[in-house]
Amino acid sequence: MISENMKKIIASLFLLLSLPSVGQPPRPMKVLPLIPLPREVKYSDDNFVLSAQTKIVLLADGFQHEVDYINNFFKTNYGFELAIVKKMPTDGNYILISRPDFEAGFLENYDLNINQNQIFFLAEGNPGLFYAMQTFIQILPVEKTAEVKIPCVQISDSPRYQWRGMHLDCSRHFFTKAEVEKYIDYLAMYKFNVFHWHLVDDQGWRIEIKKYPLLTSVGGKRKETIIGKPAFNKDGTPSKDDKYDGTPYGGFYTQEDIKEIVAYAQSKYITILPEIEMPGHSLAALAAYPQYSCTGGPFETYTKWGVSDDVYCAGNDETFNFLEDILTEVMALFPGKYIHIGGDECLKDRWKACPKCQKRIVDEKLKNAEELQSYFITRIEKFVNSKGKQIIGWDEILEGGLAPNAAVMSWRGIAGGVAAAKQNHFVVMSPGKPCYFDHYQSKDKTKEPLAIGGFNPLDSVYAYDPTPKAFSAAEAKYIMGAQANVWTEYITTFSQVEYMSMPRMAALSEALWTPLDKKNYKEFVVRLKMHAPVLDRMGVNYAKHFKSIK
Ligand code: ACM
Ligand code: ZN
Repeated sequence: MISENMKKIIASLFLLLSLPSVGQPPRPMKVLPLIPLPREVKYSDDNFVLSAQTKIVLLADGFQHEVDYINNFFKTNYGFELAIVKKMPTDGNYILISRPDFEAGFLENYDLNINQNQIFFLAEGNPGLFYAMQTFIQILPVEKTAEVKIPCVQISDSPRYQWRGMHLDCSRHFFTKAEVEKYIDYLAMYKFNVFHWHLVDDQGWRIEIKKYPLLTSVGGKRKETIIGKPAFNKDGTPSKDDKYDGTPYGGFYTQEDIKEIVAYAQSKYITILPEIEMPGHSLAALAAYPQYSCTGGPFETYTKWGVSDDVYCAGNDETFNFLEDILTEVMALFPGKYIHIGGDECLKDRWKACPKCQKRIVDEKLKNAEELQSYFITRIEKFVNSKGKQIIGWDEILEGGLAPNAAVMSWRGIAGGVAAAKQNHFVVMSPGKPCYFDHYQSKDKTKEPLAIGGFNPLDSVYAYDPTPKAFSAAEAKYIMGAQANVWTEYITTFSQVEYMSMPRMAALSEALWTPLDKKNYKEFVVRLKMHAPVLDRMGVNYAKHFKSIK
């Protein structure tokens, strides 16, 4: 509890900090390497000098985790930890951490005020304090010195969107637990709060499911991988000239790994959105359990890129039991509200030829295969809702009718997101342009690693606004935010994941956090150049094109 006396001190500090400085001529605006740019930033020429003698004054309960986080940062980067006290010190400078004495429910908001003697973190919630610390870390000097000079600033900050996401495809290529945690570190640095984890696809099943061990022992492996892009004959059939590397490929996360990664993300206020694809993109699962397909198989985990004709059979009740068992284990591992059930690119040829699927269409009085897909998703949604969770799916789940409570992730442009919002469904925007970070970021493809195609340069990502311009305020409420997707058909190493996602991730963070009227691409590039040494210190293999922007 904060005493009345302490509240007065805090209130007077606020007053002091908000007074304009007297007698100083206006100065040109100073640029600091802050990404995403906070809502309000005021600068002065003064500095606070942090040293091993600086104290942390902790005036609120429940913030120990964040205090440990920043102390750990000091120890790693400057070689000292600060003493933590519960009373205002009588001498020396200090870092004051407190909570406002009102509850507004804005748990991601924070104030950070730094004057010559005091660094003052004020946040209502733990995420807000954590974000304040991310901001603070960005203005610390990168060099390791005994005395750390920190510029004086007054920052008031809050996010523009509630869903600030990044996705990573760990099916097409597998990334280790340590690599996934590194990715989560990058998200945290830029104040993202959702990590969309693409765990299964035609080319690999990467999450241990205890009831169905073959999912990982069979579906977690493929016998080899195509080299380069698949080629097609004029009639659309696959070319016989495709080359394969002849090397078995595999990997999966145990449930223990997943618990650790979930806890790691939670410690950085990031919710993990697990994606379990259905009814398409399911060949790895069907290689393990062919009885849930229309034809009965046999199948092999896909060795090339693209989508398989074979999908889950929608006419077989056992398919739904199988998926419900899987989702039960998945929901127990991931504490977030949403489960991503895929729903994209489900080819319907098998359903059209399958007696069971056709019988389902008749029995359920459905018009066609699109409505069968809608039946599939709605049935799964009912199950997920019965466990207290919500589904989100790619925009194909609109086809044949949207399941009653589903949220939509719009990837084929924004039309799906617009249609869903107009039907009062929540939306996450992730249109291919500019949110697919597996696309090229430079026009000079000869200097780039092979990518799937497209062109999403840094400035296009920066300029992105998830809310369609024509939307009314009521419609805009359904746009939760946006995310970028990192599909990994052609991204074979984590170093390449870094190259494709950084610094576009930084640009997206600002598109999702910073008020529209504060955004300025030229100034962002200046800040990014100043921020680059932080990425160097972390050893990130970021793309350097921005360094030559004038
Ligand atoms: C997708 O890119 N198939 C969602
Ligand atoms: Zn079928």
